[in-house]
Amino acid sequence: MNDAKQRLIFALDVETLEAARSWVDRLQGQVGVFKIGKQLFTRCGPDVVKLVQAGGADVFLDLKYHDIPNTVAMAGLEALRLGVRMFNVHALGGFEMMARLVAEVDKVCPRDNPQRPILLAVTILTSSNQETLRGVGIDRPVEVMVPKLAKLAKDAGMDGVVASPKEVSLIRAACGDDFLIVTPGVRPAFASQDDQKRVMTPGDALRAGADYLVIGRPISAAADPAAAAALIIQEMQAALSG
Ligand code: C5P
Repeated sequence: MNDAKQRLIFALDVETLEAARSWVDRLQGQVGVFKIGKQLFTRCGPDVVKLVQAGGADVFLDLKYHDIPNTVAMAGLEALRLGVRMFNVHALGGFEMMARLVAEVDKVCPRDNPQRPILLAVTILTSSNQETLRGVGIDRPVEVMVPKLAKLAKDAGMDGVVASPKEVSLIRAACGDDFLIVTPGVRPAFASQDDQKRVMTPGDALRAGADYLVIGRPISAAADPAAAAALIIQEMQAALSG
């Protein structure tokens, strides 16, 4: 599989194992990573992870852990045992929570082990705005909180963050190049924006400094999803080699 395919993460936003299977079959060889979120995992559990892996693709387990350090570290070890390529936690859980997770993963799977999952942090959800933050007692602007939490995640030893494409430059400035950025909110020129408000095309998101793109409906709602994925990969390839 080429580099662009490995950087394309398809959001498996479906409800059942059967629906998941049909997307994995349809996009086999097209998409390197499938993102499994809370709804699908709560319903189907590890079976859906195994289904994706049996189809030859990797899994981004998007469960956004946020709990006491021990609980997050132990949950992370279970994600590691499932063999997922990447999983995430909320950076708002704090330095100790992330550092403990990193330490436990280090013990089982050192950094030079190719099986080691990519540990990602979510900074501020893009569904949150200034008012949401104020409601939970955070008075600083989103543009300050996002790079601050990204840097906290980096200092704790996390590998990267999930962030809106518009936040990439702020995060790069705070964390440098040696830090992965996974971005949803990506829309190719041919697709509808749906409910995403601040979007970028796949090419622009990669050129802005994103490493992985999470894309759902531009593929799933296309008349020909495999063709849509191929077009996206073509655009990603051009940006990567340009
Ligand atoms: O269909 P679409 O391409 O908008 O799907 C994007 C995926 O990324 C969905 O699974 C959505 O929940 C997720 N996501 C997002 N924005 C965030 C974080 C996650 O759209 N900030």
